[in-house]
Amino acid sequence: MAKMEVKTSLLDDMIGVGDMVLLEPLNEDSFINNLKKRFDHNEVYTYIGSVVISINPYRSLPIYTPEKVEEYRNRNFYELSPHIFALSDEAYRSLRDQDKDQCILITGESGAGKTEASKLVMSYVAAVCGKGAEVNQVKEQLLQSNPVLEAFGNAKTVRNDNSSRFGKYMDIEFDFKGDPLGGVISNYLLEKSRVVKQPRGERNFHIFYQILSGASEDFLCKLKLERDFSRYNYLGLDSAKVNGVDDAANFRTVRNAMQIVGFMDHETQSVFEVVAAVLKLGNIEFKPESRVNGLDESKIKDKNELKEICELTGIDQSVLERAFSFRTVEAKQEKVSTTLNVAQAYYARDALAKNLYSRLFSWLVTRINESIKAQTKVRKKVMGVLDIYGFEIFEDNSFEQFIINYCNEKLQQIFIELTLKEEQEEYIREGIEWTHIEYFNNAIICDLIENNQTGILAMLDEECLRPGTVTDDTFLEKLNQVCATHQHFESRMSKCSRFLNDTSLPHSCFRIQHYAGKVMYQVEGFVDKNNDLLYRDLSQAMWKASHSLIKALFPEGNPAKINLKRPPTAGSQFKASVATLMKNLQTKNPNYIRCIKPNDKKAAHIFNDALVCHQIRYLGLLENVRVRRAGYAFRQAYEPCLERYKMLCKQTWPHWRGPARAGVEVLFNELEIPEEEFSFGRSKIFIRNPRTLFKLEDLRKQRLEDLATLIEKIYRGWKCRTRFLLMKKSQIVIASWYRRYAQQKKYQKIKSSAIIVQSYIRGWKARKLLRELKHQKRCNEAATIIAAYWHGTQARRELKRLKEEARRKHAVAVIWAYWLGLKVRREYRKFFRANAGRKIYEFTLQRLMQKYFLEMKNKMPSLSPIDKNWPARPYLFLDSTHKELKRIFHLWRCKKYRDQFTDQQKLIYEEKLEASELFKDKKALYPASVGQPFQGAYLEISKNPKYKKLKDAVDEKIIIAEVVNKINRANGKATSRIFLLTKNNVLLADQKSGNIKSEVPLGDVTKVSMSSQNDGFFAVHLKEGSEAAGKGDFLLSSNHLIEMATKLYRTTLSQTKQKLNIEISDEFLVQFRQDKVCVKFIQGSQKNGNIPTCKRKNNRLLEVAVP
Ligand SMILES: Nc1ncnc2c1ncn2[C@@H]1O[C@H](COP(=O)(O)OP(=O)(O)OP(=O)(O)O)[C@@H](O)[C@H]1O
Ligand SMILES: [Mg+2]
Repeated sequence: MAKMEVKTSLLDDMIGVGDMVLLEPLNEDSFINNLKKRFDHNEVYTYIGSVVISINPYRSLPIYTPEKVEEYRNRNFYELSPHIFALSDEAYRSLRDQDKDQCILITGESGAGKTEASKLVMSYVAAVCGKGAEVNQVKEQLLQSNPVLEAFGNAKTVRNDNSSRFGKYMDIEFDFKGDPLGGVISNYLLEKSRVVKQPRGERNFHIFYQILSGASEDFLCKLKLERDFSRYNYLGLDSAKVNGVDDAANFRTVRNAMQIVGFMDHETQSVFEVVAAVLKLGNIEFKPESRVNGLDESKIKDKNELKEICELTGIDQSVLERAFSFRTVEAKQEKVSTTLNVAQAYYARDALAKNLYSRLFSWLVTRINESIKAQTKVRKKVMGVLDIYGFEIFEDNSFEQFIINYCNEKLQQIFIELTLKEEQEEYIREGIEWTHIEYFNNAIICDLIENNQTGILAMLDEECLRPGTVTDDTFLEKLNQVCATHQHFESRMSKCSRFLNDTSLPHSCFRIQHYAGKVMYQVEGFVDKNNDLLYRDLSQAMWKASHSLIKALFPEGNPAKINLKRPPTAGSQFKASVATLMKNLQTKNPNYIRCIKPNDKKAAHIFNDALVCHQIRYLGLLENVRVRRAGYAFRQAYEPCLERYKMLCKQTWPHWRGPARAGVEVLFNELEIPEEEFSFGRSKIFIRNPRTLFKLEDLRKQRLEDLATLIEKIYRGWKCRTRFLLMKKSQIVIASWYRRYAQQKKYQKIKSSAIIVQSYIRGWKARKLLRELKHQKRCNEAATIIAAYWHGTQARRELKRLKEEARRKHAVAVIWAYWLGLKVRREYRKFFRANAGRKIYEFTLQRLMQKYFLEMKNKMPSLSPIDKNWPARPYLFLDSTHKELKRIFHLWRCKKYRDQFTDQQKLIYEEKLEASELFKDKKALYPASVGQPFQGAYLEISKNPKYKKLKDAVDEKIIIAEVVNKINRANGKATSRIFLLTKNNVLLADQKSGNIKSEVPLGDVTKVSMSSQNDGFFAVHLKEGSEAAGKGDFLLSSNHLIEMATKLYRTTLSQTKQKLNIEISDEFLVQFRQDKVCVKFIQGSQKNGNIPTCKRKNNRLLEVAVP
């Protein structure tokens, strides 16, 4: 296709007439011919004033390219050939620059191209509005909401391969700059009956086919689905494939769009799981089963599908199964369960599928809204785009078509209200001369449907709420009674006999003459669909699902929130939401796109005159042109008009003092606008031709540019002058500062020069003076030096003389001495023998030695071996002698000392020495024992007659006889015992009677243990298995422990030639009978004086507290 040339005016290269207002002559034929001519030349858009007529080309035209967008951007509406972009641009600029909320109303019958038009408007606005990362994301999300909603809400019908089966109104929100902030989508009644049944030649919603064609094997498996369409009862088979539609590719588009819109992965997953569950629901089949009491009961044929659904949705299989077989009715707090027969079970299944799907759809809209909602709270400007399902007539029309067509009636009504009626009424109100133009007002049809008392919807609601048997037929009967006389209502059974013989009108139908044609509605299903009831058992089963999305879709299933009130009927809900929509639209500036379908075959290049003519008629387009032609293209209240254009006239610029109307009059006179081009209304100025308005706009633009230049000029002048003045002021300041600085510098230079000159002169003077002084001083010094030298010379001369004299005297003396010596030596030589020198030396030495020894005799220290005194050495050469003498003396006096001892004393000292080796620095008791003589027999047994028996029993020599304390092994208490040590034995005897208690041969004593502390406790360990060891080791305490231990050691050594083991430790083990007991020495209190106490703590521990 050749690229279209850029046009600068609507009139350039015009094919037919671009604006029907210019059509001459104006009649139906010329209107259609004009459209046809333009259509044949690929001009699918034509204007009626500001209304765009769009004819569906059924093929893609190269008129939506980015270049086209640029071409239409910021251009006046009538400047270029008609295009949907021109309308979009006009609406967007009006929203951005004049702060008027806009709505774009797209009407036309099914397949006329409304959805496409709405997408074109959105994409144009997205292309021309602000840019930036954030804004682009908002745009992208807004645009990508379309594929998602189309996949779930559109389906192939006989009229349209992509027919919208829901109504959609989208508010796009902008900030003051015209940047998009977000959006809100409202959806209207989805045709949900399609989920379970589709008319011949039609399909279910696209998404089902898309999933099965486009999902990966893996994903299908996860959803428990199979790719084969024929596996699913809910998918009509005869037209499962649509020409030119790639379901698989569309599925990818939808998933991608969901991601862009902001669906989380788990959300997308949940959505598809619900879709899969709906599909699978259709495969659940029931078979009858009779019960004893005669009631019909149904049973699920194959539970496999049910099981899979339950796995998908996380519903307990038994719960869902029960919900398909029983129905619980709650009346006056009583629950009654009735069984469902096969038909009822199918009805329940389908109702569930429909509800699940339609709720999912509403959830999707809410979820999308959450993503696309504006994030800021700033004031928003709004552009609403309305794309509702088009007027449609099928072979069988049911409740859905009734609702859809009602909605279209309302839209037509608002078109009439705003363009035809309101416009004409406004002329009259404003006192503008006007000849009324006839047009068909469809208010009467709207009333037939929506009247609160006698409207069809009201009748239907009344039937639905009425007690007693209610059927579709009773509803029709009621209609026949109430609406019989209505001009647009036709029914065979009505009281009015007009249609009694009309065989084209079956008994179970009624017909409405809509604005767009007669539609015959099958009354069957009206009541049910209006009631839109889902058995509570089913909603409760759904609520129990662990699938969070499904649970959320059925909030009424929550037993805690049971609401016995009937929900509003589908009809009344729809009526209310349409009413809200209409109210909303009325607050905005409307822009119309009226879509026309050129043929019924969905084919390109075919222009069916009759079909187009029909649409033109019912859309009231001709009337629209007439009103437009007779009227004025533009109107505006005087104040904003004057405000907008006042700069075009000297009198009104910048301020007009006086009424606004007078100002506008002056303005228009000044501009010399021809009188037929405008009219003055009561509160508004009416401009007949858009060209006049554009002229005004151009002038304004030009003037604004001039004004901007003027402002710029003055501003620049002001800016330069201020800058100049500032610079001047600054220059003076800088100059003064600089001068001051320069003078200061100069002064400092002069000052420093003067100082330098001065200093040089002073220096010169000072040096001169110095020179003089120095000269004087040198003169003085020279005199002194000369005098000194003179004196020196004299003194040295005298010294030399004196020295000479002294030398002579000395020489004389020496010579004299030598001479005398010589004389003496000659004299005495005769008295000396040859080795007299040696003799004298020896003699002297002898004398000295004599003297040394004699002196030593007097200085001798005492004979005590411990006396450390020794006289000092008199002569150095006697050093070694003196030391040797000291050693010999010490040895001698030690010997002397030893010689005094008797044998007994020697023994005692030997013992003491032994004791020292055993205990010194090991036992704290030892130092105290050094001074005590070892007596051995402290107890004189032989002298005491009490011990005679004991004396007799011991025939050996007694080495130790002493009273000791024996510690009771069991309780640690002490008992006195006589301890005897003989050459071969240790004996313990009773102190009172002298009876021997124990006798231990020394060979059986293995060890003696004691603490390191200041106590007398000791243990005598006995050889294991010896005779005496029966009761175990002895624990004894003695006042002469050191002596006893030493003697025991010595005796054992001499008798057994073995060293007795003496263990000194504060913790040792003793053997008491079979037990090993630990004797532990601890620091005790002093409360018993200095006596250690002994306590048996337990069978393992015996504690000795040593103070
Ligand atoms: N401007 C266009 N250019 C090319 N093809 C178009 C255009 N407008 C519509 N079509 C074609 O017509 C088909 C039907 O259009 P669309 O879905 O917009 O109709 P509709 O008015 O929304 O119908 P319904 O009321 O059933 O939803 C589109 O799928 C597309 O193939
Ligand atoms: Mg559509």
